[in-house]
Amino acid sequence: MTSRPEAEQEAIPTTVSKKEDIAAEPNGAKRKVFVRTYGCQMNVYDSERMADVLAPEGYQSTEDMEDADLVILNTCHIREKAAEKVYSELGRIRKVKEERAKSGKDMMVGVAGCVAQAEGEEISRRAPIVDLVVGPQSYQKLPGLLDEAKKGRKVVETEFDIDAKFDHLSERAAKPVMKRAPSAFLTVQEGCDKFCTFCVVPYTRGAEVSRSVAQIVDEAEQMAASGVREVTLLGQNVNAYHGEAADGSTWGLGRLLRRLAEVDGIDRLRYTTSHPRDMDDDLIKAHRDLGSLMPYLHLPVQSGSDKILKAMNRRHTRDEYFRLIDRIREAAPGLALSGDFIVGFPGETDQDFQDTMDLIRRVEYGSAFSFKYSQRPGTPGATMDGQVPEDVKSARLAELQALVSEQQQAFNASRLGMTFDVLLERKGRNPGQLVGKSPWLQPVQLDAPEDLIGSIQAVEIVKIGSNSLFGRLIAGQDETDDFGVLPTSAA
Ligand code: SAH
Ligand code: SF4
Ligand code: F3S
Repeated sequence: MTSRPEAEQEAIPTTVSKKEDIAAEPNGAKRKVFVRTYGCQMNVYDSERMADVLAPEGYQSTEDMEDADLVILNTCHIREKAAEKVYSELGRIRKVKEERAKSGKDMMVGVAGCVAQAEGEEISRRAPIVDLVVGPQSYQKLPGLLDEAKKGRKVVETEFDIDAKFDHLSERAAKPVMKRAPSAFLTVQEGCDKFCTFCVVPYTRGAEVSRSVAQIVDEAEQMAASGVREVTLLGQNVNAYHGEAADGSTWGLGRLLRRLAEVDGIDRLRYTTSHPRDMDDDLIKAHRDLGSLMPYLHLPVQSGSDKILKAMNRRHTRDEYFRLIDRIREAAPGLALSGDFIVGFPGETDQDFQDTMDLIRRVEYGSAFSFKYSQRPGTPGATMDGQVPEDVKSARLAELQALVSEQQQAFNASRLGMTFDVLLERKGRNPGQLVGKSPWLQPVQLDAPEDLIGSIQAVEIVKIGSNSLFGRLIAGQDETDDFGVLPTSAA
């Protein structure tokens, strides 16, 4: 697969039940909440935290919307299609609500996430079934907001109070939890001060805020205790992390990773999404030094044209990006790179686009995500001269995706015959099959007993599929040295 289906096309199923947290209503009946998650991993993390906040209020998670007393859409505003999707989904929810009403059951509807933040009360104006609009910085207030909404008032909460969010959500996360999936997200930083001219994130998520080192270490330890072995640190600008340590000093992401590498039970670390400007020496050295820091880096560049990079306010040139990649590869030779690209930013000529294609050829990505530029209200790009026609954007996207697909397939094919560690995460489609993840974030399918879920095993890759690798367990060997690749003969 060359590019992930655009983020907005994925409604990420969010399993949010923490059964032992479920409190009953006074009459013993449980209420049910259905959360649908769109957009980036931070929304996935936030959806889980919303469920944590609602559990003590008597809400149990359900995967069945018809069954839900409360439906929450955790939305994404990054491209137009993403934002519009919310309204079509609300249309469907209206029908479900009407059906439930026939049997005397009510359904409350909440819109959370980045569309909530960006559009506020406009949402309930356009979709009157919405009872509650809540921005990403206010989830800790959900119980009170729901009480308000139950009184029949349309509630809109889009204040930025991110410290309160983190304080409160960590408290919730600190409660004992049931066994969790082997791989988990952990938000360390939220918001963005970069103001790329195409992007809504600085407006929907607000200014950059980093959580304290202690909060993050606590949460990672909790995760380890509940069976998590791989933690992906999240931030809209994760490598701009600058959190306060116990002694009052400020730590960058490299230092934080070194500390997290010491947490017992956490064997794999990843982070996303990073900005090229914030890849400092210490972080690059962490890739050299830490066996548990996985050799895969998502480092979006968006364009290979200096003119477009400038117009996007990315604040670096293509040469600076090349030099950065050289330094990273020197420190961590086996590392695979991934990126994001936007085609058809205002003013992008054929030559600018070819500069992007040239950059991709030179860097050679293990995978990449690519998008047609979408004009977002309130961003400088939306009103720039030289908007590119839709058909030109489509043609450029197809050309770019063909190239990236070629590179991705070549990268996958280069794993054939290698033996490396795979974190076994869940059952596969066929009986007896498990699915895991390679150090380079590739899905790996193999036959293995179910009790190995949650373990890291040495696996030899025997076949390359279009989206995943196929492997076989190397019997008697749990894990190679760090992610170290063994030649097949040594296994
Ligand atoms: N913080 C990350 C990006 C977050 S948004 C970074 O700086 O790279 C995820 C991706 O969505 C971006 O990398 C960009 O490729 C894409 N994107 C953001 N705004 C967009 C827009 N208006 N149109 C098309 N793609 C966009
Ligand atoms: Fe958006 Fe740019 Fe911030 Fe990334 S760095 S979130 S693209 S403004
Ligand atoms: Fe979308 Fe908001 Fe994430 S706009 S990509 S959900 S930060």
